[in-house]
Amino acid sequence: MTDAPLSDPAYDFTNDWFDQNIPVWDALLPRFEPKRVLEIGSYEGRSACYLIEKFGGNESLEIHCVDTWEGGIEHDKGAMSEVESRFDKNVQLALQKKSNPGVVVKKHKKLSYMALAELITVERAATFDVLYVDGSHQAPHVLSDAVMGFHLVRAGGLMIFDDYIWSMEEMGKQDVLNMPKAAIDAFVNSFTRKVVVVRGAPVYQLYVTKTEA
Ligand SMILES: C[S@@+](CC[C@H](N)C(=O)[O-])C[C@H]1O[C@@H](n2cnc3c(N)ncnc32)[C@H](O)[C@@H]1O
Repeated sequence: MTDAPLSDPAYDFTNDWFDQNIPVWDALLPRFEPKRVLEIGSYEGRSACYLIEKFGGNESLEIHCVDTWEGGIEHDKGAMSEVESRFDKNVQLALQKKSNPGVVVKKHKKLSYMALAELITVERAATFDVLYVDGSHQAPHVLSDAVMGFHLVRAGGLMIFDDYIWSMEEMGKQDVLNMPKAAIDAFVNSFTRKVVVVRGAPVYQLYVTKTEA
């Protein structure tokens, strides 16, 4: 019997936000045969370690992790250097567990729009199987992550938007610009001829398939 992903006590995580997504990811991601994954927002590496454990047995897996490790509006900025150290340690542990030279993690420590601009310029092709957008939760940033990220996802690939209905403020006092939803809706509406929303997934994350370039 194999251990459940992320169950190794040697990991150093202070939260398990990601774990509610695991049943859907387990069911959905294999369909997209992830060999190249682009993650915007990596924090302590929990989602990246899940990907390594789950898909790192394949011949190759390249995960690009984009994060400033400076935190978003919802984070304690003073704690972020420790968060980055935990990311490095956790990812190393996941890589050691797999012991597969075909698994590579590339760290892009910068603002997402800068990392995406560089990737678009360098790659000059849409070759990522999966894009996971979980960086800044402010609408203007989410919108640029979605639009720029779209150009890096292959036709037939998957775009995952975390925290679709998250808000910084309490119910009834929300600032729409501190929520991902308005940006994700603007992206999906504007790209409606090039994407399809995956039906049946819980609404906390929105899953979108890119149908054409
Ligand atoms: C919610 S956490 C990511 C959690 C991670 N995906 C997981 O499942 O464990 C969001 C991360 O996005 C990063 N971030 C916020 N705004 C960003 C931006 N504009 N560019 C790059 N990273 C950003 C923060 O530093 C933080 O680590």
